[in-house]
Amino acid sequence: MCGIVGYIGNKDAKEILLSGLDTLEYRGYDSAGIYITDENATGHLFKEKGRIASLREKVDQSVTAFSGIGHTRWATHGIPSVENAHPHQSTSNRFTVVHNGVIENFEEVRDAYLSDDTFYSDTDTEVIVKLISWFAESEGLDTIDAFKKAVVTLKGSYALALVDNTQPDTIFAAKNKSPLLLGTGEGFNVISSDAMAMIRETNQFIELMDGEVATLTAGTIKIEDLAGTVIEREPYTAEIDANDLGKGTYPYYMIKEIDEQPAVMRKLVQQYQNDEGQLEINEDIISEIKESDRVYIIACGTSYNAGWAGKQLIERIAGIHTEVHLSSEFAYNTPLLTENPFFIFLSQSGETADSRQVLVQVNQAGYPSLTLTNVSGSTLSREAKYTLLLHAGPEIAVASTKAYTAQIAVLAILSECIANSKGFESFIDVAHELSIIANAIETVIDDHEIFDHLSVTHLSSSKNAFYIGRGIDYYVVMEAALKLKEVSYVQAEGWASGELKHGTIALIEDNTPVISIITDEVTGPHTRGNAHEVVSRGAHSMIISMEGLDRKGDAYVLPKVHDLMTPLISVIPTQLIAYYTALHRGNDVDKPRNLAKSVTVE
Ligand code: F6R
Repeated sequence: MCGIVGYIGNKDAKEILLSGLDTLEYRGYDSAGIYITDENATGHLFKEKGRIASLREKVDQSVTAFSGIGHTRWATHGIPSVENAHPHQSTSNRFTVVHNGVIENFEEVRDAYLSDDTFYSDTDTEVIVKLISWFAESEGLDTIDAFKKAVVTLKGSYALALVDNTQPDTIFAAKNKSPLLLGTGEGFNVISSDAMAMIRETNQFIELMDGEVATLTAGTIKIEDLAGTVIEREPYTAEIDANDLGKGTYPYYMIKEIDEQPAVMRKLVQQYQNDEGQLEINEDIISEIKESDRVYIIACGTSYNAGWAGKQLIERIAGIHTEVHLSSEFAYNTPLLTENPFFIFLSQSGETADSRQVLVQVNQAGYPSLTLTNVSGSTLSREAKYTLLLHAGPEIAVASTKAYTAQIAVLAILSECIANSKGFESFIDVAHELSIIANAIETVIDDHEIFDHLSVTHLSSSKNAFYIGRGIDYYVVMEAALKLKEVSYVQAEGWASGELKHGTIALIEDNTPVISIITDEVTGPHTRGNAHEVVSRGAHSMIISMEGLDRKGDAYVLPKVHDLMTPLISVIPTQLIAYYTALHRGNDVDKPRNLAKSVTVE
């Protein structure tokens, strides 16, 4: 969480930093700040609680700056406040730092080195900047050596940018675990937590690796390790279209991204088709999965929910046992593994710290791994043996929508490629089914007013809500409930409908909304039975069924798609219901409270 940017060069840094932070706001929006240096080498610090828009109002527009650093915060240590907002400064104001990550030993460091210093915030970051200052001023080290000594002393995760006001033409940067890119252009250089934030300035980026320190001026970038060995690394081209970053005519990114799903389905077919029109995936990935005796899907949140639909696809289409695990549980409570496991990491951002923690263990054990991510060059992509991209375009709304469907679609493509390679008789044509799904999603989105109406009449003023389903529909109701709670703050649960009577049904009261999803012929009648049970206890039941399984009075009938692919279509009404419920409750749909899109702390 948190995002950092830096700029040094020939343009006014102020606006570049603010617009970079606007793009990085998905990483946290508790507070924000910038430190800029003007042409007289005078530093100016601006910080504000809340959004970048509030910071922008506070920044003195008359200052023209040629360099600066900035930060948008998701609070870990200390409440959201101006005092806890970054940048933080040393007591002498000589050093200024922005930080993304968590310093685990900040209290020990403070007690060991800084007991005489006064602290003005509750953050771990203030310790970093004061430690750098201590090494520079008490031990007489020059800035780069004080910086290196500080990062060696610190334990935890960090992406750091440092300014020393005695060297105003330089920005220093370092990282451990948290991502950091250095961008380069004609007459300027930048730093950024991701490429998107600086794509308007440059598409040429160099990855900074753990244990490295970078020194940037307007014309040079020097990377060295902590022993001082200089490292040469060529920039790569970030393939992001700056036009994809805007909302266009949409009021929110979430609805734009819901709307983009048909196009993403079609794009995935194109991206994974060979010249003969067959789905194709790198042969090495296919043979390593074929050689494995079990696939372990590792993910968090919405990606974890997508993993369950993926398990169904891999088992049924490719015939390989598949388990799905939460990253944060797997890392510290590892189950007994089979002899030849293959790991699939699902991560929209490719930066989730909980998932990375598992990947580090997997790499140490020498097991093969594949990351499915939307962000090429992301940490999980770089560190896994293989990557498959989701090709969904930037997902900016904090609530994930198109990445969920893209993950399931790529897992379907992967499953078919494995099945083909195993010589299985084909019972599903995934490319064809995905094009049917693209059209079906369009139909559901065209009916958005129905879900708007359901939201306003039954959900937006309710304190809680339930989604129920069985089998493949159970996987989707877990995601439906997550989406509803995170954007609308209605307490929502997604339950296996058969489990209701084992406890949860006690929560049903008059008018409690219960939405059933029914796309499966075998379990559908059972779920209908469970819907009757909650109606008998006063609930307001709404059934979303699939064509062919529908009954009079159902709230919505989904277009028919292949039995194994139903999550790709049944999730769409639930995304729309979450969106409209949040809208009617007056919430900030794209930036729900307490959340951040890229969760880079464990
Ligand atoms: C929910 C949501 C989160 C993410 C989770 C994993 O809408 O966005 O639950 O799915 O934080 O993130 P990634 O997929 O980036 O690893």
